[in-house]
Amino acid sequence: MLPSPWLLPFGLDKWLRSHKAEQERKLPILSLEDHELYGDTYGQYAGTLFTILTRDSRNIASILSEQSSKFDYGDLRRVCFGFLLGEGIFTENGEDWKRSRRLIASRLHEPQFPALHIIESHFQELLQTIFSKQETSPHIDLRPLFFNYTLDISTDLFLGVSTSLLSPPSKMNNEGKRFSLAFNEGVKFLTARERWKKFAFLTFFTHHPRQWWSCLTARDSLLNMIIEAQKQEQGSKYQPFTEFLGKSTDIEKARDELMNLLFAGRDTNASLLGWIVYVLAQEPDVFKKLETEVLSTMGQDPNSTPTLLDLRKMPYLEDVINETLRLFPAVPINGRMCKETTTLPFGGGQSGEEPILVPKGALICFSTYGCHLSTKNYGEDARLFRPERWREVDVKSRTHDYTFHPFIGGPRKCLGEIFAMKLTRYTICRLVQSFSAIEINSPGFQCGSDWQKQTKYNIGLTMSLDDNDGLVVKLTPR
Ligand code: HEM
Repeated sequence: MLPSPWLLPFGLDKWLRSHKAEQERKLPILSLEDHELYGDTYGQYAGTLFTILTRDSRNIASILSEQSSKFDYGDLRRVCFGFLLGEGIFTENGEDWKRSRRLIASRLHEPQFPALHIIESHFQELLQTIFSKQETSPHIDLRPLFFNYTLDISTDLFLGVSTSLLSPPSKMNNEGKRFSLAFNEGVKFLTARERWKKFAFLTFFTHHPRQWWSCLTARDSLLNMIIEAQKQEQGSKYQPFTEFLGKSTDIEKARDELMNLLFAGRDTNASLLGWIVYVLAQEPDVFKKLETEVLSTMGQDPNSTPTLLDLRKMPYLEDVINETLRLFPAVPINGRMCKETTTLPFGGGQSGEEPILVPKGALICFSTYGCHLSTKNYGEDARLFRPERWREVDVKSRTHDYTFHPFIGGPRKCLGEIFAMKLTRYTICRLVQSFSAIEINSPGFQCGSDWQKQTKYNIGLTMSLDDNDGLVVKLTPR
């Protein structure tokens, strides 16, 4: 391992550099530079916590699959997230987690899930919002609209009552709005707590009481929405809540399960949609190729809605999504606590090809972003956006050897992958059907061949486009 240019105790040097990179919205780039400096696997102190960082796919496979029983979240998730999420799939371990996972999988893995007509109804609201905003300015920030879109869809699908954030004022759901505002603040609070890890209690001193109060408001509001959903479902044939979360033992537990699902599915999906529109605006040739595929499958009528079969006939659409997930994974870095002293197969010795010791109590951080951008895995053009590479490499074998793992793998693999992919394919197909050009107009970005160097990242619990600049675009209707 090479020595750092200058070292301070408790990892303060790293903290200072990270702080600077974060101010510049370039945190993921710093993580790549560090891997190039220290190797694919290295150790450091984060405060008093010994941490091992790895982007080696062979180690990631070991943590997530082969040795998964030796790593878990410990108490950290409950401590950092419990305030908003309560007791659900993200904060649980052991038998409780297994129960939640079975319950959630029973819904997410239904073959007909999600109902495309429900997605279409929300897509229409997104479209109408875009058109009505275009009346006042040709430039629209799509970033917040995508966050509202994915929350509206998720609440509709899981609860039967949508937050209706994109609905016209006549259909506005006041409780939905209350929930969304509180949920946004609550997620920000969790991001801060997650950074403090076992010192998360300090956030009660460092953060405005409004932020932690928002977690309680979001929990209260979601309970109100559930009660409303139950009322509406009485006597109705369509009972998404009763069929799914109504199976869980009590209403408070159902609320927690639902909160965890919204937490899992809202920001990840919204971030992915944002990144795809961003790259389509930056890469006109990719947009043209995608447009040809979409229009040759769907015809020229922007109102014809795709079936799942239609979407399966669009391999380039899938390549664009995979390439976006590779370069801009919604969860760029992830962590596990080591429950018993063990070794990881690579990262030790002079060559870095020997096993490395992982002591009990160490935090293991694996970088999906670092792994996806490694030239060892994707060749010299690993940093370039090139969807065509997915005709040369096989997604399945890449997922299997963990060189591509946007949804991770192993027992805690994302349960929403199929849902996320269907929703993303559907939405991007419908956007391409509806608009003939996308031009980027965010003050902080410029178009050009080096757009990736200029990209700014917002790192919360997910990685999205910089929230200061947003995703300001000009969309030309067909
Ligand atoms: C682009 C979209 C998405 C990406 C990239 C993504 C990625 C991930 C990742 C990396 C994890 C592991 C988190 C961890 O270990 O800390 C995860 C977990 C999870 N995801 Fe997703 N996700 C996406 C969308 C969704 C959606 C739409 C849902 C459902 C509504 C969902 C449900 C879940 C659940 C329930 C877990 C927890 C699994 C467990 O702990 O057993 N995800 N997701």
